[in-house]
Amino acid sequence: MINNEELTIRIIDNAALIDRALDGYIERLLKKSAENYPKLREAMRYSLLAGGKRVRPFLTIEFCRALGGSVNDALPLACAVEMIHTYSLIHDDLPCMDNGNMRRGKPTNHIVYGYAGALLAGDALQSMAFETAAGCGLSAEQTVEAVRLLAESAGGSGMCGGQQLDLESEGRILTFDELELTQSLKTGMLIKCACRLGVIAAGKMNSPFIAAADAYADGIGRAFQIVDDMLDASADRAATGRCDGENEGDKKTTFMTYMTENEARAYAAALTDRAVKAAGLIDNGQILADFAEYLLNRKT
Ligand code: IPE
Ligand code: IPE
Ligand code: MG
Ligand code: MG
Repeated sequence: MINNEELTIRIIDNAALIDRALDGYIERLLKKSAENYPKLREAMRYSLLAGGKRVRPFLTIEFCRALGGSVNDALPLACAVEMIHTYSLIHDDLPCMDNGNMRRGKPTNHIVYGYAGALLAGDALQSMAFETAAGCGLSAEQTVEAVRLLAESAGGSGMCGGQQLDLESEGRILTFDELELTQSLKTGMLIKCACRLGVIAAGKMNSPFIAAADAYADGIGRAFQIVDDMLDASADRAATGRCDGENEGDKKTTFMTYMTENEARAYAAALTDRAVKAAGLIDNGQILADFAEYLLNRKT
């Protein structure tokens, strides 16, 4: 087991790298906005550079590293998946969705930039993700697969599909299977995408490591959402840095609908164990195993 301090340093170092790279992309790709309509760039920066745990880019970087690739190989794709994730949060918080007031410890994007401003900031972040992935500098085969995977994971068969199911769950109780399907799309697909992007960046996309990445992502993705529901239920707003308005909360089915806190924790721990086993299939996968444990015990 890597000691905790080593993992903490790696998380902080990666977050710093990602923040710098994201800042660089905004500056390079949004020159027109900066010069002529600065509000859009400002709204994008507001959410993208507001911190966040950077879980998905960490996974992309560390899968790539564990499989013999470099940080630089992974960084553009790591940024791309974080851009998609941030866009999904901006839209998720809109009044027509969850009506969130706080995100990443700050007022949500639409509170500061208005509904239309937030809509456009999300749209433009999504486009920037594809522009970033397309220019990732890897081989043509790797790049095409990365872009395809991002599209699949973010779209109707991925995150957006999960958000649709999530909306339809308002006012009725989902079955446990329906709940797991919703979460596997809404949260799971981008996490799986992040892991696979690391495998692709390392040049191992036609190897059994894709299956190992999928198994790992399935474990941490499901555990992640359970922990998320537990944190939401505990309503420690100061810790999570987010808060929903009247649209969400009590009406939606979550893991807490079906489980006590102890049961939910045990279920998340079992799923984490599966992820740890999958990380064991990767030569230098110890950091991924430790990260799975870290996510299980997170408080934000
Ligand atoms: C929150 O994701 C939304 C879910 C998909 C559950 P994160 O908990 O990764 O949010 P940030 O990126 O740290 O803000
Ligand atoms: C957010 O899920 C998932 C996406 C943005 C795709 P939730 O609505 O459950 O997460 P929070 O509580 O707002 O972070
Ligand atoms: Mg939501
Ligand atoms: Mg929400």
